[in-house]
Amino acid sequence: MSSNQPSQAVAKHKQYLFPAITMYYQDPIELVRGEGNYVWDHAGNRYLDAFGGVLTVSIGHANPKVVNAVVEQVKKLSHCSTLYAHAEMSNLAEKLASIAPGNLKKTFFTSSGTEANETAMNAARAATGRMDIITLRHSYSGRSLQTLAGCGQSGWKKVPLPVAGIKHAHAPYCYRCPFGQKFPECGLKCAEDLEELIITETGGEIAAFMAETIIGSGGFIVPPPGYFEKATAIARKFGGLFICDEVQAAWGRTGEHWWGIQHWDVKPDIMVSAKGMGNGAPVAMTIATPEVADKFPGITFATFGGNPISMASTRATIEVIEEQNLIDNCKTVGAYLGQKFKELMEKHSLIGDARGLGMMQAIELVKDRKTKEPAPAAVNKVFEEAKKRGVLLGKGGVYGNVIRTGLMLNAGKQQVDELVAAMDAGLTVAAAG
Ligand SMILES: Cc1ncc(COP(=O)(O)O)c(C=O)c1O
Repeated sequence: MSSNQPSQAVAKHKQYLFPAITMYYQDPIELVRGEGNYVWDHAGNRYLDAFGGVLTVSIGHANPKVVNAVVEQVKKLSHCSTLYAHAEMSNLAEKLASIAPGNLKKTFFTSSGTEANETAMNAARAATGRMDIITLRHSYSGRSLQTLAGCGQSGWKKVPLPVAGIKHAHAPYCYRCPFGQKFPECGLKCAEDLEELIITETGGEIAAFMAETIIGSGGFIVPPPGYFEKATAIARKFGGLFICDEVQAAWGRTGEHWWGIQHWDVKPDIMVSAKGMGNGAPVAMTIATPEVADKFPGITFATFGGNPISMASTRATIEVIEEQNLIDNCKTVGAYLGQKFKELMEKHSLIGDARGLGMMQAIELVKDRKTKEPAPAAVNKVFEEAKKRGVLLGKGGVYGNVIRTGLMLNAGKQQVDELVAAMDAGLTVAAAG
């Protein structure tokens, strides 16, 4: 890379923001511009953005169609709140009802995944009249008290969490199976764990089972075939609704379908998404069956929910995904990327597992393939080396030892090759110690 010129923005970030708001890299990056799959820092260095601001810039930075939709909307009306109808909001809700699985027909728009999950949890409790919600270990669901309590990672739970009624089931984490078993001989013990949890830790009736389709921040943990069918059947046996958190796995990213959960044969009662839906606009949704939505109590309101600018951005993003067949692209290019990660695994013993669906692919680094001892320091080395080579990656996993990638939905094999070459070099450096 060409320049290491110090950044004023990084210095002020360190001085004036909460220290907990950490930045990636030894020398953090100030980003000033993005176009398509690439971003530029303050010193003019170009990077392949292989994480998309945490899977959020889904169809490329400054996508012309999205830019145009936003600019045209700002010129007309920037805000109206949910006290008034707006065509961008109601048309988008209609569109979501047509592409969401099963009988998910009514939407509540908000501005972040946290709010959308909070809404979903409240809706499930109100609709069932019950309290207990089962979530998964290793999961992440947001920063509000209730969603933090739902998280299954100690790193995110450092504030006091006086929230009752949330229990954590074992994760469907095949690489580190909590039961020491192998799929399919395991008989999906992780899903069966829900039953024991419910009959020992709750009053025997639950409001909901809430799960990410692919456990994202936890390191792209992909549940095995049959997991959701079995887990949701158990939850429903005890009266629970299924809340599917598609904050990361939606919008075609997993290939083949709009929604990650469509890789399993189950229908959510409530589904949540955010991140990639507006290509960077602060927008989120909680979509529910009419039976659930109609029971949401009292009156409610969200100042920025359904904001015309976010709605226009989301509408344009969905149009681009449809017009450019990006769900197919995720399947093809994602399979190519998955294959390349398997090849990296043959070459580098640091990689204990390579996993993912579509354009949601990760590698988990270990010091030793037998003991599976996590190797978070090696992740940091790969990060620094890939950065030198102009590639930005994502981290994850409760042990900080997973490298996550979230290339844009319209990335091609060229971007995959760039990404893999940088990771290959980084892994070589990391292995050297
Ligand atoms: C699966 C999942 N749910 C919820 C959230 C919370 O979303 P937000 O940061 O927009 O509040 C995240 C954020 O990373 C997430 O990955």
